[in-house]
Amino acid sequence: MLRCGSQRLMKKTVLLRVDPEAPNVERIRAGAGFIRSGGLVAFPTETVYGLGADTLNAKAVLALFEAKRRPLDNPPIVHVCDFGDVIRVAKEVPAVAEGLMRRFWPGPLTLILKRSRVVPDVAVAGLDTVAVRMPRHSVALALIRESGCPVSAPSANLAGKPSPTMARHVLEDLDGRIDAVLDGGPTAVGVESTVLDVTVEPPQVLRPGGTPFESLKEVLGRVELNPAVTAERPVSVEKVRSPGLKHKHYAPDANLVVVEGELSAVVRRVNELVAYYLKRGSRVGVLCTAETAGSYRAHVVKSLGSRGELGSVARSLFACLREFDSEGVDLIVAEGVPLEGLGLAVMNRLRRASGYKIVKAT
Ligand code: TXA
Ligand code: MG
Repeated sequence: MLRCGSQRLMKKTVLLRVDPEAPNVERIRAGAGFIRSGGLVAFPTETVYGLGADTLNAKAVLALFEAKRRPLDNPPIVHVCDFGDVIRVAKEVPAVAEGLMRRFWPGPLTLILKRSRVVPDVAVAGLDTVAVRMPRHSVALALIRESGCPVSAPSANLAGKPSPTMARHVLEDLDGRIDAVLDGGPTAVGVESTVLDVTVEPPQVLRPGGTPFESLKEVLGRVELNPAVTAERPVSVEKVRSPGLKHKHYAPDANLVVVEGELSAVVRRVNELVAYYLKRGSRVGVLCTAETAGSYRAHVVKSLGSRGELGSVARSLFACLREFDSEGVDLIVAEGVPLEGLGLAVMNRLRRASGYKIVKAT
């Protein structure tokens, strides 16, 4: 064993490749073996890779926080593979939650419910609620089933970094700190699940994500966005209902500025900012979309895909942010996208990654 940092012992992280079309039973069992014995296993979901531990094992959950260097006041999401398992971790499932589970599970929707007492305090950061979701991914579902327990899984990145959408990203952050990674290829959605609090009336979105607000509205009629979702400046801690929203998040090493507004004005403003920073000797990157990629000259120009397909923008967002770091960029100037569909989740991540350095182009 090797020493890592101050006190931590390094472990060997096992990489297990699994075909999502036909998950290899032996490898799923190997992963589940670690979870059952209190270990930590990263696995793909449809949104991002999660880092799993047995929810009912307080020591394992504590190790999860340590491996990620995650603040203890920010509870992870509990993942289940069965509707029946929800009642193991939640005190009650209100009718509205049941309807949403039927409509959106398995899928990128996390529900905040009243917690059951069997969930250790550390797994919910001492709150009286618990976040639960059923992921839409064969590998995730097989791992949870084989583990035989609810699986607490935050995104499998070091706290503050962009979430991992490939096994490679998990290893960049957590190699030597966790027991295994199940590599099921790149994730399909690319941004995390939508977090919806159904303990309040009307239900409230605490984090926008892979299930668009518009889809929730269609089903629920009345549903609200927590002000933190669309915030353009840091939200005061007292107003934050979802603990994760008060911590630094999604940030690449480079500084990031988001330019928002009507597209032609955005292009103009991005070019002005690029020219300004190039003159100051910075290594500059531009994060843009397919429609505008030809309009920029900087050290690195990356397109997230067509702004007509916000699904592809969401899918490539976190990987692009990580790539800028490996290219040694000092400053990233990013184009905003409309706050519609998955655009709401993309803009929430970009604004937070920038530390709310938002420029309005006119
Ligand atoms: O797509 C996802 O949700 C991914 C994959 C792995 O499932 N997971 C994920 O987990 O993004 P994490 O832990 O990185 O984010 C969980 C979010 C945080 O913003 C946290 O504050 C919030 O859910 N949350 C957890 N429990 C909560 C609770 N009881 N009340 C309010 N917010 C809660
Ligand atoms: Mg996260």
